[in-house]
Amino acid sequence: MSNRVDRQSTSSHPSQHALYPGSFDPITWGHVDIVRRGLEVFERITIAVARNIKKSPIFSFEERVEMIKETFADEPRIDVVPLAEGLLVDFARDIGVRNVLRGLRAMSDFEYEFQMASMNRRLTDDVDFVFLMTSEEHFFVSSSLIRDVAMNGGDVAEFVPACVNQRLREKFGVLSSPKSSSKG
Ligand code: COA
Repeated sequence: MSNRVDRQSTSSHPSQHALYPGSFDPITWGHVDIVRRGLEVFERITIAVARNIKKSPIFSFEERVEMIKETFADEPRIDVVPLAEGLLVDFARDIGVRNVLRGLRAMSDFEYEFQMASMNRRLTDDVDFVFLMTSEEHFFVSSSLIRDVAMNGGDVAEFVPACVNQRLREKFGVLSSPKSSSKG
């Protein structure tokens, strides 16, 4: 899959438009929280789903894109695009986006994000990073923890949108209750 983007959908002023990249394996309420709050700052957000081969994802690239599209089906200001190859900063520049949005959960995120933002700033100064603090109720959630709990039969319904919970149940044959919040 190449990095295909509908250019019409990215036509807002660069400062009103943010790119939210990640591997989203799978998307959690923590990510959704960052995006929803990001929409109070930016007019539109493009979510870029990275292939990220370093992480051996459990969901295919296409499944991750689909789950995010389903999660934000009610939000016309969100686009979901694949970031299959190449540098994040080149992708941002290609689609005319100046701001990259990231969530910060804890001190441990800070070091990684600081390194990544600094390297990206070395690569180009056309792109800048904007950080939002993850809400308190999500600060301990990560995609790998969700995967681990689901894989071992635990109930993750309160941490992920309903469509993600459903896919995890199908993948792992989880016996947990299908309870889910009405948010997604
Ligand atoms: N709520 C819940 N979890 C959150 C979160 C939040 N608000 N914010 C971050 N996370 C978690 C994710 O679930 C993920 O958890 P995991 O490691 O357990 O899977 C972790 O934080 C970080 O993952 P993510 O935000 O998806 O970033 P990443 O490190 O997988 O990927 C990219 C980061 C895609 C931005 C980076 O790899 C990239 O830029 N790739 C393109 C190539 C490139 O330009 N490389 C040079 C970079 S300098």
